[in-house]
Amino acid sequence: MTKTLLRALAGETLPTPPIWMMRQAGRYLPEYRATRAKAGDFLSLCYTPDLAAEVTLQPIRRYGFDGAILFADILLLPQALGADLWFVTGEGPRLSTLTGPEGLGALKGKDDIHDHLAPVYETVRILSGELPADTTLIGFAGAPWTVATYMIAGRGTPDQGPAHALRQSDPATFDALMALITEATIEYLSLQVQAGAEVVKIFDSWAGSLKDEAFTTYALKPARRIVSELKRRHPGLPVIAFPRQAGDAYVGFAKATGADCLAIDNSVSPDWAARTLQPDSCIQGNLDPRHMVTGGQPLIDETRQIVQALKAGPHVFNLGHGITPDADPDNVQVMIDTVRGG
Ligand code: CP3
Repeated sequence: MTKTLLRALAGETLPTPPIWMMRQAGRYLPEYRATRAKAGDFLSLCYTPDLAAEVTLQPIRRYGFDGAILFADILLLPQALGADLWFVTGEGPRLSTLTGPEGLGALKGKDDIHDHLAPVYETVRILSGELPADTTLIGFAGAPWTVATYMIAGRGTPDQGPAHALRQSDPATFDALMALITEATIEYLSLQVQAGAEVVKIFDSWAGSLKDEAFTTYALKPARRIVSELKRRHPGLPVIAFPRQAGDAYVGFAKATGADCLAIDNSVSPDWAARTLQPDSCIQGNLDPRHMVTGGQPLIDETRQIVQALKAGPHVFNLGHGITPDADPDNVQVMIDTVRGG
């Protein structure tokens, strides 16, 4: 196996960690903005395979990242299930809201999503033919809890209030929605793998608002179901789990779910992660994305500190969350040079 990202995910400790970056294809890159303008809007970009493949490749050409993440969005799956989806410029996603059994009943079944998602699978196929031989292709989906929070509220929410309210007021509807998203996610990721994705990542961006038993029920158990079924269908498939802001609940998450790699956000210290989490799995992370905006010596110092802290075990260098549109593309190069050159 020559691809460094696959080697790290298989548990190998490498002299230099492989690197990729969440949201590496994004608005901070002028070439992304140009292709997005050509597509017209964000969803057209996601559903036009040639253009989605093009923006996936842009950061690979510019920086030579070790991983390329499929260009798509976690909200395409709810759209395939029948939710309305649109993006308001400068504000973010909007969806139809799901408030009870009628909304749930109107959704499609887990196997009825593939016509809608066919362009995504086509993007994966194009990429698997076009990526450099040493670049690993990463597919992804949102975790059920995070996807449910958007489907219920119809938008991003600071505290996921509407989703918490529904799980308390109407647990039957909430649990059935979680089960549907979980099973549809398995079908969606499975077809990404068949199309050529070599790794999959599950983004649970809002896992941090689940505590104790609720975390186990709505973050850990669905992840375990998705990982075990995917690995049953695709033996040896590496999986990265990202229960963002999980804090102490990061401990044991990789073991309990079967994930090969635990992605961590930048609220936890890499020294703590090395001691507490890395014995169980590969660790991905966790530079504060603000450094991509501010740059300078603090960027170099913190990058070195993370590489140093995690160097005794398997590590994939990444940010703790997505790079933001105001980032300076030159700072990304400084980060990469620091990781690779010391
Ligand atoms: O990482 C990558 O480069 C791959 C593509 C990718 C996107 N979104 C493209 C995107 C991935 C993996 C995602 C995941 C995603 N999408 C998550 C989970 C990760 C996280 O950030 O917590 C979530 C919660 C979403 C939902 C979503 N999509 C939101 C809240 C927004 C609006 C915020 C924003 O940054 O504008 C999006 C839009 C989005 N998804 C953009 C991109 C490049 C920006 C759209 C644009 O070009 O205008």
